[in-house]
Amino acid sequence: MIKVALFDAKAYDRPSFEHYGSLRDVEFRFLETKLNEDTVELARGCDAVCVFVNDTVNAAVIDKLYAYGVKLIALRSAGYNNVDVKAAFGKVHVVHVPAYSPYAVAEHAMALLLTSVRRIHKAYNRTRDFNFSLNGLTGFDLHGKTVGVIGTGRIGRIFIDICRGFGMNVIAYDHFPAKDSGIHYVALDELFKQSDIISLHCPLTDDTRHMIDGAAIEKMKKGVVILNTSRGGLIDAEALLEGIKARKIGAACLDVYEEEADIFFEDRSGHILNDELLSRLISMPNVIVTSHQAFLTEEALNNIADTTVNNIRSCFDNDGVCDNELCYRCGNIEQCKKERKEKCF
Ligand code: NAI
Repeated sequence: MIKVALFDAKAYDRPSFEHYGSLRDVEFRFLETKLNEDTVELARGCDAVCVFVNDTVNAAVIDKLYAYGVKLIALRSAGYNNVDVKAAFGKVHVVHVPAYSPYAVAEHAMALLLTSVRRIHKAYNRTRDFNFSLNGLTGFDLHGKTVGVIGTGRIGRIFIDICRGFGMNVIAYDHFPAKDSGIHYVALDELFKQSDIISLHCPLTDDTRHMIDGAAIEKMKKGVVILNTSRGGLIDAEALLEGIKARKIGAACLDVYEEEADIFFEDRSGHILNDELLSRLISMPNVIVTSHQAFLTEEALNNIADTTVNNIRSCFDNDGVCDNELCYRCGNIEQCKKERKEKCF
């Protein structure tokens, strides 16, 4: 039996992890607390830890895990910006779930876009109050509009297909453009200039942090709609608020927020929110916030648990070899994943 401390456990995690774990002799210890330097002690006696997007897996945490004999960090997410993969190299293997339902995220991005431009959130509240007035609910057609997609990986491409179904003109920017994909790539500045809607689907890295800042917003069309279902740190939220206040940004739909770690995923109703910026953004009539919910479908939860259990079994049964390892061996994760045939170290 492989023992795994599952940090930041939510009620929705349990059924699928218990089910898939029991099929393959992996026992999960569900811990509600997030992993960080203060809580890492709870991993003592476990073979692996299972972490989510807001756990802190920095060098200090990794050193402690290593000292406790923990062999594996299993991310139950695709993004891994919260793990210092470099610090883990040579000590603890790191695996992730590269794709569990890219459809879930891409469809959520479109759901946010439609909600925003057709004012569905406002109409829903009105009709519940028997207010059938249409004043202020005028939207715009998506058909014929230009959408700029930043990051054309698994999720970005599905989002592109969805947008094409709506008759939208799609342009894209990617650091590593996909060859022969039929995607019309443009320079980032050109994307900012031409897009009526901008949707972010690239990972958070040192290069992409605050890629949407004041200077970028300056280059955008007046009335632009910004969608972020990727990572909060891609947007400088203060600059976003300024853009909204200046009436430059037409709407913002945010499933992620840079400072979400201590806020999202919890019921904070009845509490005073200690984040002025988020409070101000939420108070704007043209901002929609969901709390990192884009992945949350039945299909995705089952795929996450199934793949995580397989990743764990693969590492322990095959001496650290796992297709979904985040390998730091050649110093470039994207490159390494493609070239690698064996384990990272
Ligand atoms: P992916 O790895 O398939 O695609 C990412 C794309 O971004 C790649 O084409 C890559 O070349 C591109 N990219 C890398 N650096 C770039 C840069 N500097 N500028 C522009 N493009 C760059 O990843 P996938 O599965 O499509 O996921 C995208 C992101 O979505 C993840 O990194 C994660 O942060 C986020 N995500 C959010 C979820 C949510 O619930 N809100 C759930 C799952 C993922």
